[in-house]
Amino acid sequence: MTGAAVLGGLGSALPSRLVTNEELSESLDTSDAWIRSRTGIRQRYWVRGESTGDLAVTAGRHALKSAGVDAVDLVVLATTTPDHPCPATAPEVAARLDLGPVAAYDIAAVCSGFVYGLASAAAHIEAGLVDSALVIGAETYSTILDPQDRTTSVIFGDGAGAVVLRAGEAGQCGALLGFDLGSDGSRRDLIVVPGGGSRARTAPVDAPPAGRYFTMQGKPVFRHAVERMAQSARNVLARAGWTPGSVDSFVGHQANVRILHAVCDQLDLDRDRAVTDLDRVGNTSAASIPLALSRAAGEGRLAAGDRVLLAAFGGGLTWGSTALVWPDIPAL
Ligand code: ACO
Repeated sequence: MTGAAVLGGLGSALPSRLVTNEELSESLDTSDAWIRSRTGIRQRYWVRGESTGDLAVTAGRHALKSAGVDAVDLVVLATTTPDHPCPATAPEVAARLDLGPVAAYDIAAVCSGFVYGLASAAAHIEAGLVDSALVIGAETYSTILDPQDRTTSVIFGDGAGAVVLRAGEAGQCGALLGFDLGSDGSRRDLIVVPGGGSRARTAPVDAPPAGRYFTMQGKPVFRHAVERMAQSARNVLARAGWTPGSVDSFVGHQANVRILHAVCDQLDLDRDRAVTDLDRVGNTSAASIPLALSRAAGEGRLAAGDRVLLAAFGGGLTWGSTALVWPDIPAL
């Protein structure tokens, strides 16, 4: 038995194609002013031929380098946009990173996937099943967006972020101080890709591709996101023995700056404690929290010793939170 899973490395990857609000306004009935004021997003990156696995490999390589290791015992990849419905993408990512015959699997918890992945890998480490893990959140939502749907196309971006976890002690910087995870499958209709699964397996080749596109009911999702992230954050803060006021940085799922501010208000936390990355990358689903961590650490916004709170919310519905004292690691 070990004490805790400790954050030991951090990496990220973005595709090369920058898509501005102005570019989207050329093909959709929208505007830079609407997108910025309603979401806080000013640009995002979309893949041009790259896959989720490609981004995951790059982010994973950076995280391994940041941790100063070239081997781990486990790879967990959180994604809603795997390279194929079958098999999982994680084994191929592990192979491409030359990690040998390690355990590797995908986690599908939509935008909460990275926090679910952290919890899963931390549980393996705390149970003594493995000594180290690479946890990756990687997405290519641009491949499942309806290009005619202005309510979703302007919001989502592609990218990947990754961390290395290793066995350590609960008292050390970087130790994950517990988790709060939850779901409400009765509201699965709010965020759904209707086709491609066992309920609507394969569309006829001449059928319109509507069922394969991502759909979201923005307004109720907004309300659930605020309530669930705030409650989940409260639960994990209680577990860590922290007051909301003692949190230095709140790294919430990067869906909408208004959601991040509303969660801060509910927690009685100054809004400037919220780390914001969605202005640069949009909503990158399972990649959003590790991408925000990478940017904040790279810019010196996260300093060693800071109290950091993570909270995620996504389709399912799913949500999850964790907390840690920030370690002294480079973000690559
Ligand atoms: N450009 C211009 N107008 C638009 C656009 C657009 N891109 N999108 C919608 N509108 C219009 C609507 O048609 C509507 O017009 P109407 O009043 O004439 O009917 C008006 O703007 C207001 O639309 P709302 O949907 O009420 O806009 P809202 O302020 O709620 O913002 C948004 C929409 C950004 C989607 C918001 O609801 C939101 O952020 N929801 C939460 C998303 C989220 O948290 N996702 C996380 C999980 S995602 C996952 O798990 C994968």
